Amino acid sequence: MREELKNLADIFYMKILSPSSPINIKWVHATFSDLGIRDENIEKIAELNAPLSREVWYYSFIKAQEEEKLDVYLNKIVEHTGFEENERLGKYLDALGLIYKDGEFKRKFFKLIVLVSGRGTNLQAIIDAIEEKKLNARIVAVVSNRKKAYALERARKKNIPTYYLPARKNERREDYDRRLDEIIAPLEPDLIVLAGFMRILSPWFVKKYRLKIINIHPALLPSFAGLYGENVHRAVIEYGCKVSGCTVHFVDEEVDHGPIIIQKCVKVKDEDTVETLAARVLEKEHESLVEAIKLLSEGKIKIEGRRVIRVS
Ligand code: GRF
Repeated sequence: MREELKNLADIFYMKILSPSSPINIKWVHATFSDLGIRDENIEKIAELNAPLSREVWYYSFIKAQEEEKLDVYLNKIVEHTGFEENERLGKYLDALGLIYKDGEFKRKFFKLIVLVSGRGTNLQAIIDAIEEKKLNARIVAVVSNRKKAYALERARKKNIPTYYLPARKNERREDYDRRLDEIIAPLEPDLIVLAGFMRILSPWFVKKYRLKIINIHPALLPSFAGLYGENVHRAVIEYGCKVSGCTVHFVDEEVDHGPIIIQKCVKVKDEDTVETLAARVLEKEHESLVEAIKLLSEGKIKIEGRRVIRVS
């Protein structure tokens, strides 16, 4: 990545060497201040009014990248230098996780939309993983069919756009999904995550987003498909299962049925209650969901029939 950064910095360095360019070390310093990037080295060099050497220029790119502000830094630069797209540049930008679209540099994120109906601990696990940089993704919307879903509150706390979309009386599934898609389609998500979303999606919606919707189920599919909430764990205990767990799978036209991405197990203990088992499974759910999103965001799987196979 350093090499691409250096090459990119070089291309713009050539442009700022023209005598008419307003870009010098003072400009870099002022721009960094504007963008909220504090850097002692740049401050010192600016105080000395030293020339903007190629090394310092490159250093400023590294710094902007570290602060995840390379996109906005580039936007400021091209205000003065202009930008001509070419294949070589495109490749560098791609490697740096950037795109140039509608006259602007933007960061390319794996865009997630999370659909919820309840307390949102799985949503929280995704939010935390993104904050801890375990996931290179961004949640662009959280949609709930229930107003009181605590998941909405969790999203609001993190300034994630939230939508409350209740179903209308006697509304057909597909009609609801078409309204849902009025929110979803313009956001162009890479993945739609059902994290405790208590609605079955219509074939129309599933087809439109085939292999772009995943669900988390609190049991080892195909056992206990179609059950939800406490009912799953009660059924597992009553059946006398010795293991249970969770499944992250792609969503297809049948409930709890699509290709399985990840499963994790827990032991069912003799003394387990619905609550204790649910709590242990939930921990695994959080891990599995984050792992599945990571695999998908990094393009590390391929699908052969029902089998989801990891590729490196
Ligand atoms: C989880 O148990 C999940 O498996 C199921 O719904 C529950 C949602 O929990 N689909 P939360 O809202 O993420 O806490």
